[in-house]
Amino acid sequence: MTSGGDAPGMNAAIRAVVRRGIYGGHEVFGIRRGFNGLISGDIQQMHLGSVADIIHRGGTILHTARSERFKTPEGQKEAVEVIRKNGLDAVVVIGGDGSLRGAKALADRGVPVACIPASIDNDIACTSLSIGFDTAVNTIVEAIDKVRDTATSHERTFVLEVMGRERGFLALTAGIAGGAESILIPEIPVNMEDVCKRLLRGHQRGKTHSVIIVAEGAANGFYIAEEIRRRIGFETRVTVLGHIQRGGTPTALDRTLASRMGAKAVELLASGEGGVMVGTTESGLMWWDIDYVLEQKKDIDPADYQLAGILAI
Ligand code: F6P
Repeated sequence: MTSGGDAPGMNAAIRAVVRRGIYGGHEVFGIRRGFNGLISGDIQQMHLGSVADIIHRGGTILHTARSERFKTPEGQKEAVEVIRKNGLDAVVVIGGDGSLRGAKALADRGVPVACIPASIDNDIACTSLSIGFDTAVNTIVEAIDKVRDTATSHERTFVLEVMGRERGFLALTAGIAGGAESILIPEIPVNMEDVCKRLLRGHQRGKTHSVIIVAEGAANGFYIAEEIRRRIGFETRVTVLGHIQRGGTPTALDRTLASRMGAKAVELLASGEGGVMVGTTESGLMWWDIDYVLEQKKDIDPADYQLAGILAI
């Protein structure tokens, strides 16, 4: 199943789970519409052809949902009954932080579960990357490049608000790659004085345009733009990138990551491992207990934040 916010590369993960499962002699079923679909028994058998022609497509062919019902003990009980009734031996959950919590609830009720981290926010611990992050970063960088063209032409300051929920991974990575003049992330208190000082410093050395990246969890883009106008009188424009960041063709990195993680999830379940999440690290794919993953907090790299500031001097 895929669950929570969709992420580019989810389809590649579904394909890998289905094909690795069938290759290993298993029958594979797709649970549609996340935990809601699990509760309502929205389940269909998947064949090799069910996942043909999807590796390059964003979104998820299984659809997804944020389920309120599954957060209740009754919903979880119903879900486990559906799993038993349908003779499912194990479940692969592809999704972000909320999905991981959902998977834990299933594991706590005795269901063998393997999670695959998929979220553009990249805020899940024990994995340096979650599926979809790289594609979303590239989407933002493309937007920064485009915005910079018009910012240069009109000699304006642009504020680009990006997603990321309570974390700044998307903003920081895309901001560095796009050469943003300032990057505001939830992990560092917003300092308008510093933002304005940087703008003025740039202006003094002849710079007539700037792009500021604001993570949605740090501040509202319109507020930042208004503060700049009020404090130093610069002409500003705001672009809120929104759900564009969640769609589009997955990058090669996301497709390969999803393929590897999907296959590994099946292998782990087939060898009797359950209650785990697959993650990617410098030494390759690893797996951890979901409980352990949920106890960890993933931090932004302070060196990256400093570097962004230095390079945008
Ligand atoms: O978790 C992914 C994410 O895109 C966040 O970055 C964003 O805050 C949220 O989902 C938006 O969720 P929804 O599509 O439910 O509005």
